Amino acid sequence: MKVNDALYVREAEISTSDLKDRVHNALRAWDKVISRKDDLLSSLVLYQDVKETSVSSASSASSVPMPRLKTNHVISSALLKLERQNQTFADILNNRFILSKTLGQTAELLEMTLDQIRHNQRQAIEELTAIISHDETERRKQRIHEIESKMPPSTYSALFGCDDGLDLLVSQILSAETSFVVAITGIGGIGKTALADKVTRTVVSHFRFNEIVWIRADALSLDNDSLDYSTAIDLFANEIAKSVAPEVAGNASRESRLARVRQVLKEEPHLIVIDNLETISNTAFLMRQLQDWASPSKFLLTTRVRPIGEASVFSYSVDSLGSADAGSLLRHHAQIIGQPDLAIATDDQASYIYDIVGGNPLALKLVVSLAMTMPVEFVLNDLTQGNTSEVELMYDRIYKRTWQALTHTQRRLLRAMPLVAESGGSVEQIRAITALDDIELWPAMNDLVNRSLLELLGTTWERRYGVHRLTASFLQTNINHWDEADDGDEDEELQL
Ligand SMILES: Nc1ncnc2c1ncn2[C@@H]1O[C@H](COP(=O)(O)OP(=O)(O)OP(=O)(O)O)[C@@H](O)[C@H]1O
Ligand SMILES: [Mg+2]
Repeated sequence: MKVNDALYVREAEISTSDLKDRVHNALRAWDKVISRKDDLLSSLVLYQDVKETSVSSASSASSVPMPRLKTNHVISSALLKLERQNQTFADILNNRFILSKTLGQTAELLEMTLDQIRHNQRQAIEELTAIISHDETERRKQRIHEIESKMPPSTYSALFGCDDGLDLLVSQILSAETSFVVAITGIGGIGKTALADKVTRTVVSHFRFNEIVWIRADALSLDNDSLDYSTAIDLFANEIAKSVAPEVAGNASRESRLARVRQVLKEEPHLIVIDNLETISNTAFLMRQLQDWASPSKFLLTTRVRPIGEASVFSYSVDSLGSADAGSLLRHHAQIIGQPDLAIATDDQASYIYDIVGGNPLALKLVVSLAMTMPVEFVLNDLTQGNTSEVELMYDRIYKRTWQALTHTQRRLLRAMPLVAESGGSVEQIRAITALDDIELWPAMNDLVNRSLLELLGTTWERRYGVHRLTASFLQTNINHWDEADDGDEDEELQL
């Protein structure tokens, strides 16, 4: 991976010897107005945390540039800590660098020999570096946690067959110069959202971006013919503002919101992920807007429809899994949901299933779940009766079988799911909509999660439940028809 712009890329690990040199340079350059890259601490999250307002109001010298003020702020906080640990060390550094005293003056003041001062100064810089390194490591852990806790939870516990795509996308997103808008494309259920999630979580630990914002385009009610472009853009601006400029989210005028969002995205690098972009029929106008907001900020999009006519968008298309990876996914998912036979499926058995189902991860997960209640042979025979080369038709048959394998309570629960928000519903909401009590609700929830029909959303502390978008569209279009078919054809109903 080619990532070398130290100003933008904050590596996951801090190198102590490099940090020591930087701290020493920063001390030497304390009152220098002209900064070089190596006498600044801009690669630290601690530096990123320093608010411009707190340093500019504290400094009387308004001619000192912001990067120097922020660097000095990091140094002086560490010096205060050093003072508590070792007063002599702090005195030496303060006299030598902050008050610009010579070695001789400092030696006289502290009643030491020149050699003692030199020796102690070296140790003091090491200790100051250790303080900064410790605080930075703690801050990085906390920062990763902060960002990840704002993302929707991952829908997978392991990803198969996407290492190359992951490496490529991560390097595109981390590069400082190119690919300000990156799109992950592919058919429904192929793994675009899962890959975007993995890319984003990988990027988090590089501290390349001040803030990472995850937006679900399908939750923005953009699929409306009467919606004009500027309203649609304002909806996006508002979503971004909620995370990066909350003062203009919701209440400010449209103009001031757009201006502020642009300013924030232009000033510091942010990563904005927009999931499910294909819910907007014409994306050209949005692409133009994103280009205007981008650099140094970046956008990562997932969409079933590739944005066309936009040379400046880097597109990566997710393909079906190969046979071996499909086999691994199949066994792994079977293991997780407790389908013991498929968990130990042989390569021959796995490739038999693969030949019929293909390498679409969602389809594979659904088929594994079906095999919990039905003989695999039955499921596969059923699929081969349809035209399995057409993924949509295959989904249709898989969903139909899945629906038929559900209990009455599970159907009631699933049928209610399109009524909850796109961002999912809390247990209280679902309880209210379905009028199910906990004794019925929890086993049904559990089973639907295992069948990949319910997805966990929100956070551990604020759990919400939703349905995959493909599941939702089948629920909205096909189930009434299937229920009618059930009534007329009792043989089709499966024994549970
Ligand atoms: N490579 C993979 N390995 C394991 N599981 C995967 C992989 N790709 C996707 N999945 C799982 O398959 C399911 C469908 O994937 P995902 O939701 O990412 O598809 P999508 O392309 O975003 O679909 P849509 O276009 O409907 O939004 C998810 O449960 C996801 O966790
Ligand atoms: Mg998706």
